[in-house]
Amino acid sequence: MSMENILPPLKEIPPHLQTLADYEVQAQKHLSDMVWQYLQGGAMDEYSIRDNREQFAKIQLVPRLLNDLTQGHTACEILGQTFPHPIFLAPIGHQQQFHPDAEAASALAAEVLGSNFILSTFTNTDLASLKQENPYKWFQLYWQGDRKKSLALIRLAEQQNFKAIVITVDSPHTGVRDRERRVFFHLPENMQHPHTPSHIPLPELHENQHPVFAGLMQIAPKWADIEFIIAHTDLPVILKGVLHPLDAQKAVEIGVKGLIISNHGGRVLDTSISPLKALAKIKAVVPTDFPLLLDGGVRRGTDVFKAIALGASAVLIGRPYIHGLAVAGALGVAHVIKILKEEFEVTMALMGTSTLNEINTDFISQE
Ligand code: FNR
Repeated sequence: MSMENILPPLKEIPPHLQTLADYEVQAQKHLSDMVWQYLQGGAMDEYSIRDNREQFAKIQLVPRLLNDLTQGHTACEILGQTFPHPIFLAPIGHQQQFHPDAEAASALAAEVLGSNFILSTFTNTDLASLKQENPYKWFQLYWQGDRKKSLALIRLAEQQNFKAIVITVDSPHTGVRDRERRVFFHLPENMQHPHTPSHIPLPELHENQHPVFAGLMQIAPKWADIEFIIAHTDLPVILKGVLHPLDAQKAVEIGVKGLIISNHGGRVLDTSISPLKALAKIKAVVPTDFPLLLDGGVRRGTDVFKAIALGASAVLIGRPYIHGLAVAGALGVAHVIKILKEEFEVTMALMGTSTLNEINTDFISQE
């Protein structure tokens, strides 16, 4: 029997929840230690988790004054879609662990706040249960071990009116996550994933075969698989987790339509380059208008501004909206998005910028 005293989700938002950091503190009270370590943890020594925050603190803002901002707005255009603001929800798997309403609650909050929702392959909620006519939804694909199974998931997303396919390519192997190992992290036995098994089945290993290279690496996607997917769907394909400029160039060459620059919130490869640094390097080698999105450590409206200044079209938040979900379901997720969106609007006003197009490196100091 667990001795943990876990609070049920709140029905209204108390006044002490004013920032994303407040939500993080509160969320721990609503989750078991095992789920908390899974959510918060990262790979190895968690340098990347810390760097993802520090990358933003190192950049300073240089505001312009007295501009006319009366026509200001936060809208952005990506791949022909116009979004009311550039704060998207990152794909996060198995959301039933955090709240019984799971992805349905996150999707509802995203819809109400006009936030683009990227649904994880490991959703506990059926793709079909997200509102059909809502245009702000993309589907994240984890490679299913072969082309046929991967394409079958994409077909489902197409049928359900998802507007883009985000293929996460940074985790052909799970990260070495010590915190999870210490608490014997496991998913609940009866957890349902309507479209996939909870784990992609591994090839059978014979004696003396290498568990990594003859195991997971056999079923990991390769560049030719991405080309195959691009050739077999009309939806734009975006790669998530790209950090190297040469991979970015290669992606552009084969017809990928956008990149999410990400180190998976520090969960996969510790000490991997922080996304903002990678963004600057990648921005320099892709076509001017090529959509680059960024995630990892975005916690303040000023962070959103800095990412855009360095060339991001939009940002994604991961853990923060899950904190909102754990605290108060859809209401909590909506409040988290609202906090960040309003902070970003105030930042734009104080920076003297009236549209996202005006935001560039002239507004930041990086010494
Ligand atoms: C993730 N992330 C992730 N990414 C993905 O492509 N598919 C997935 O199913 C998941 N699942 C997942 C679960 C949990 C618990 C976390 C914390 C993260 C990575 C996620 O999309 C995103 O890249 C990071 O969360 C961004 O960093 P922040 O905002 O959490 O700092």
